[in-house]
Amino acid sequence: MAKDWTPSSWQAFPAAQQPDWPDMGDLDRALKQIASYPPLVFAGEARSLQTSLGQVAAGNAFLLQAGDCAESFEEFSANNIREKLRVILQMAVVLTYSLGVPVVKVGRMAGQFAKPRSSPTEKIGDLELPSFRGHIVNGDAPTEAARVPSPERLVQAYNQSAATLNLLRAFTKGGFADLARVHAWTQEFVGSSPEGQRYEQLANEIDRALRFMRACGIDTEVTHPLHETDVYTSHEALLLGYEEALTRQDSLTGGWYDCSAHMLWIGERTRQLDSAHIEFLRGVGNPIGCKVGPTTSPEYVLELCERLNPAHIPGRLTLISRMGADKVEDALRPLLRAVRDAGHPVVWSCDPMHGNTITSTSGRKTRTFDSICAEIDGFVRAHQAEGTWPGGIHVELTGDNVTECTGGGDNILDDQLDLAYQTMCDPRLNGRQGLDLAFRVAEVLRTTGLA
Ligand code: PEP
Ligand code: CO
Repeated sequence: MAKDWTPSSWQAFPAAQQPDWPDMGDLDRALKQIASYPPLVFAGEARSLQTSLGQVAAGNAFLLQAGDCAESFEEFSANNIREKLRVILQMAVVLTYSLGVPVVKVGRMAGQFAKPRSSPTEKIGDLELPSFRGHIVNGDAPTEAARVPSPERLVQAYNQSAATLNLLRAFTKGGFADLARVHAWTQEFVGSSPEGQRYEQLANEIDRALRFMRACGIDTEVTHPLHETDVYTSHEALLLGYEEALTRQDSLTGGWYDCSAHMLWIGERTRQLDSAHIEFLRGVGNPIGCKVGPTTSPEYVLELCERLNPAHIPGRLTLISRMGADKVEDALRPLLRAVRDAGHPVVWSCDPMHGNTITSTSGRKTRTFDSICAEIDGFVRAHQAEGTWPGGIHVELTGDNVTECTGGGDNILDDQLDLAYQTMCDPRLNGRQGLDLAFRVAEVLRTTGLA
């Protein structure tokens, strides 16, 4: 167990990005209520995920972490959850088949509500308003009243997370994740995609492999891994009061686990070595992540590894690089070298979204599909050069047919962004672009000989 740590020891450290709650009494009551509620996930599940991530760290598996930038209280429905899960499962099938290794699936789901902001206020038209910090804190409507933080939202976020998790568990164990079904959806995509030709070969190969298994006498009807799967949950551990309220002692091992999600990560804006966020996460037994941006130094990364994973447990720490397409190769290589030479068993994952956000000519915040692919290419090249394993991707997507990122198979143009621009926060890949990306990742890993 971590030395001198308690679930509340973070309170003695500087905590950035915490809301200005208008009434601390209300906050305290909401947090006490959450602390009295059941855990959302179990310590044993977090340990299973850590074991799987250990396989990623060793180069024997691949991590797919994906979901919303910010989950919404308003767009909370079975459809919305199912469609997001559907894209994640489709991407996982493409990656599993092409890379020939297990794909560890982690959703930015069932708790991904709180958003760090680069400024405490934002300008909407002529209005200067407190920034929107995610539905767990305030409303996104452009009025002063909506932007006042309300602790009741913490309780609503807990309840929505519980319902989302319940549905995720049902979908992944109850037939929806059946490989034959997921593959059939993927074939549909290939058939109707402008780039279908390019992907058809892969879809056909998957088909042949399934037929081969059946021909060999493997009863695909009764083989469990073909019909059900594990999809874990994750979010940025930003609101430390909420995370503390869900931190429980595991009766089996005596260790502390943050039972708000299987995996938690620290964002680019809260990863200072003396931050409350690092203090909090160093003490929980969950697998954890930390974003690393283009200004990260090798010395910082080594110190981070020591603080967050002093015991060198494989899969405990995932470093999520978010450098920007033009910087990633040069910025990442020294970090890969330093971590490799120090023998830290980390998972290296690529977030190709947050370093590539631009403002389109129409004034929308967007990302181009090409820059997202270019960042992944650079990430893979850096690993190839250093002899390390490009362990995964971390992406923002939705199953809905939105137009938030430009390019991709359907080649969404700048002036089409307004057609279905729905995000409350960052631009997400739509379902098609997500699947398209999986094929591209598979291609780049195959052509570089890493898979
Ligand atoms: C995010 O993942 O939504 C995010 C805010 O990322 P970052 O901390 O890397 O900017
Ligand atoms: Co985001």
